[in-house]
Amino acid sequence: MTILVLGGAGYIGSHTVYALEENGEDVVIADNLETGYIEAVHPKARFYKGDIRNADFLNALFSKEKIDAVIHFAANSLVGESMTNPLKYYDNNLYGTMVLLKSMVKNGVDKIVFSSTAAVYGEPESIPILESARKNPTNTYGETKLAMERMMKWTSNAHGLHFVSLRYFNACGAHKSGKIGEAHNPETHLIPLILQVPNGKRARINIFGDDYDTPDGTCIRDYIHVTDLAAAHILAVEYLQKGGENNIFNLGNGVGFSVKEVVETARKVTGHSIPSVISPRRAGDPAKLVASSEKAKQILGWKPAYSNLEDIIASAWNWHKNHPDGF
Ligand code: UFG
Repeated sequence: MTILVLGGAGYIGSHTVYALEENGEDVVIADNLETGYIEAVHPKARFYKGDIRNADFLNALFSKEKIDAVIHFAANSLVGESMTNPLKYYDNNLYGTMVLLKSMVKNGVDKIVFSSTAAVYGEPESIPILESARKNPTNTYGETKLAMERMMKWTSNAHGLHFVSLRYFNACGAHKSGKIGEAHNPETHLIPLILQVPNGKRARINIFGDDYDTPDGTCIRDYIHVTDLAAAHILAVEYLQKGGENNIFNLGNGVGFSVKEVVETARKVTGHSIPSVISPRRAGDPAKLVASSEKAKQILGWKPAYSNLEDIIASAWNWHKNHPDGF
């Protein structure tokens, strides 16, 4: 099977490519390297530098390579940036996906697995969050991902596209080989920012708000290892190959940890005191996001291998301590 991974030089994309290669698949990567890294590209994959908004680039790629399925990670994904520059998100995420789907229809490629997010839900009405829960995004990023899901649905109705949308909760951790890991510039995510402290890159971690309606007052999130996310993409491609119907799955551990618990666990893993200060709340942060991933477990047979926060942070630390400046 030949699989095209769009955004295969990014964080979750590169880990999925490594998992596909470990599975013996033939992998083609396209990435514009705007937020991805050439160093993250698996040496065995065929790499094309280009942008999904460029129809000529995509049509040429689909003519050259015989693609059985697409895994689509190519998008901007920073919640804060999506609020200050919303049209960048409409352009890359929504317009980019429209050009992609047009090209897939034109070239007869009919299977796609797609990165979605917990941000499509907004402030949840109940925990754990089911796929059927109300969708009311509180930021442009989540809004564009929800619109991308709906674009897939209508394209499927009209043109027979088959899709699976995977809604990730908080992706974290790094590949066991130590070759690839999380590297964002600028970094905004909690675990890599915490690990900058023992790496000597930052004096302390800011805890954004301790007056939320949670047991210790800090926000609760569902942290899921990137290798477990990668495995779900492979299961989703296999599900579509076997004729599975269009579907949407949450991907999380189903267990929530507060910001204070994450900082405390990082202290244990790194042996560093990691000073913290309570700072004002960050705009748009829901108090608690925890997934129900029962559907992915039942239908895809997905079983996350990492459920222990200490192991997850140890895996992230294994990457960050050796790559304090990223790639
Ligand atoms: N946080 C801090 N200090 C920091 C950074 C983060 O206290 O320096 C807190 C945040 O306020 C939040 C938690 O740590 O409560 C996790 O924050 P992240 O930025 O790591 O992750 P988010 O939960 O904000 O975002 C993640 C993904 C998004 C996705 C979202 C779904 O990164 O892509 O989950 O809600 F959209």
